[in-house]
Amino acid sequence: MKLLAFFLIVSTRADIPCLQSTTASGPYCVCNATHCDSVPPLLNLTYSEYQLYSSSKENLGFQSTQGKFSNVTLANEVLVSLKTHYQKILGFGGAFTDSTGINIDSLSNKCQSLLLESYFGSTGIGYSVGRVPIGGTDFSLKGYSYCDKQDDSLDSFALQEEDFKYKVPLIQRALELRGGGNLKLFASAWSAPVWMKNTDKYNGFGKVVPKYYQLWAKYYLKFFEEYEKQGVAFWGVTSQNEPIDGLIGTTVPNNGFDSEEMKNWIKEALGPAIRNSTFKNLKIILHDDQRLLLPLLKTLVLTDEEVVKYADGVGVHFYTDFFVPGSFLDLVEVEGKSLFRLATEGCAGSAHIFGLTEAVDLGSWSRAETYLSSIFTDLKHDVIGWVDWNMALNRSGGPNWIRNEVDSPIIVDSEKDEFYKQPMFYALGHFSKFVVPGSVRIGSESVLSDLEVLSFLRPDGKIVVVLWNKSNEAKSVNLAVDNLAGNLNLPAKSINTLLLSLYK
Ligand SMILES: *[C@@H]1O[C@H](CO)[C@@H](O)[C@H](O)[C@H]1NC(C)=O
Ligand SMILES: *[C@@H]1O[C@H](CO)[C@@H](O)[C@H](O)[C@H]1NC(C)=O
Ligand SMILES: *[C@@H]1O[C@H](CO)[C@@H](O)[C@H](O)[C@H]1NC(C)=O
Ligand SMILES: *[C@@H]1O[C@H](CO)[C@@H](O)[C@H](O)[C@H]1NC(C)=O
Ligand SMILES: *[C@@H]1O[C@H](CO)[C@@H](O)[C@H](O)[C@H]1NC(C)=O
Ligand SMILES: *[C@@H]1O[C@H](CO)[C@@H](O)[C@H](O)[C@H]1NC(C)=O
Repeated sequence: MKLLAFFLIVSTRADIPCLQSTTASGPYCVCNATHCDSVPPLLNLTYSEYQLYSSSKENLGFQSTQGKFSNVTLANEVLVSLKTHYQKILGFGGAFTDSTGINIDSLSNKCQSLLLESYFGSTGIGYSVGRVPIGGTDFSLKGYSYCDKQDDSLDSFALQEEDFKYKVPLIQRALELRGGGNLKLFASAWSAPVWMKNTDKYNGFGKVVPKYYQLWAKYYLKFFEEYEKQGVAFWGVTSQNEPIDGLIGTTVPNNGFDSEEMKNWIKEALGPAIRNSTFKNLKIILHDDQRLLLPLLKTLVLTDEEVVKYADGVGVHFYTDFFVPGSFLDLVEVEGKSLFRLATEGCAGSAHIFGLTEAVDLGSWSRAETYLSSIFTDLKHDVIGWVDWNMALNRSGGPNWIRNEVDSPIIVDSEKDEFYKQPMFYALGHFSKFVVPGSVRIGSESVLSDLEVLSFLRPDGKIVVVLWNKSNEAKSVNLAVDNLAGNLNLPAKSINTLLLSLYK
């Protein structure tokens, strides 16, 4: 039996190539029940040896090459400095929406396993963070809550079929693949039961009636208790998904809170409820809304010491980032307390609801670049992790009960029993696979205008340099780390991750 187990491990470690297909927008890798590309294993590097992974618009799939740096001085175009240390990385991941579960569940068991391995396994991109909706979102088959009938005691609170079919089993499998503690989960709520609201609706303009704040906070605790019974423990909770939505009346299920209401909700209900419970160590993440709105958070919410007392971090969404600089992220600084910054949601294709774009643009390299642009900007501004929206959607970007279909790094075709790993998957993977939790960002600069660089020191001592060549031409770059330098060939339109050992 032991021997068999040994061979099984060896066989899953084999380097399986991407079966690449291409559309006018770019490439994607096809996976089915018997074939799915893996990330070539990390090599054991000795002093000055490097391994370079590349995925490009021409060639996806973490192409791995290796070489050696030397102590000769080159005209260096990229400088990595071990002297400056910035934020410690929490991790990268995606959301366990109902639709993610519905799409994964629509595949054969073997195909499901390969999909989960792609995200969470040791041959995949090693996601280490997951977001779990408290109840339904628009990426559900309908609006619902855990207590649809008025019940001021919440005795009838109950997890739904969606949890038992589409969320809990997947989370349990992801936790197993990650070895339990290596997957940090945080929860976010969209809409309260409609009887707690002023509109009797899940979406549109709507707010939780203040007399129900305590009950709505108790509902959160019930959620954590019920998930704990299923073996799912949480690391964090956000104060509310996109509180702006209920103020501007979007069709996404919501609870609107203006800044005054948000402060009251946190300091009178959610904060005390969490801190007085067995879940008191949960990280409380404020905002969970657009970067564009951070000036309001700064001036109207973070000025309240009581609120800040309950807060551990600030969550940001990327949907309006084109309008505002990364420096907006620095607005979350408060005196006397360090609040972490976490990117809690982003996706491509969201303009589809306005009829401006296709929800799914299979193979799109430019959508991978949208992800990269967000990740580079966020991490340069001390964000500790980047969490994607749906992990798997269907060919038209659903299901979504308000027809707000969008794109996802993995698109599922249940009729063919196949799934497609898009450039967005590789873009995220070039971080999540290598910039492992606990890595610390270190200084780096590039003199080349179309080459973006970020560097990290991993807990195992390896240096990681992520290099994004935006240019249409391949580039050869001289890169120096410490007193070592080397020359790297980066393909055109590519995302690359370099691992370098400085251990003598
Ligand atoms: C999966 O794809 C490979 C390569 O195209 C093919 O050889 C294999 O038959 C496919 N497997 C299934 C179950 O369709
Ligand atoms: C790296 O070294 C470890 C321990 O010596 C060994 O088990 C592993 O197979 C090596 N990995 C590679 C890719 O050579
Ligand atoms: C550079 O490396 C060579 C041999 O690899 C060694 O002899 C030399 O001392 C090194 N120079 C410096 C400045 O470290
Ligand atoms: C615990 O609850 C009590 C009573 O509601 C409240 O006064 C106190 O501030 C709460 N503790 C914390 C840490 O929030
Ligand atoms: C995907 O989901 C949408 C609902 O958002 C549905 O209308 C469509 O039929 C689904 N497509 C496939 C291929 O299942
Ligand atoms: C980026 O790709 C282009 C096109 O292949 C190439 O000419 C250029 O040298 C690459 N840039 C870097 C920095 O490697």
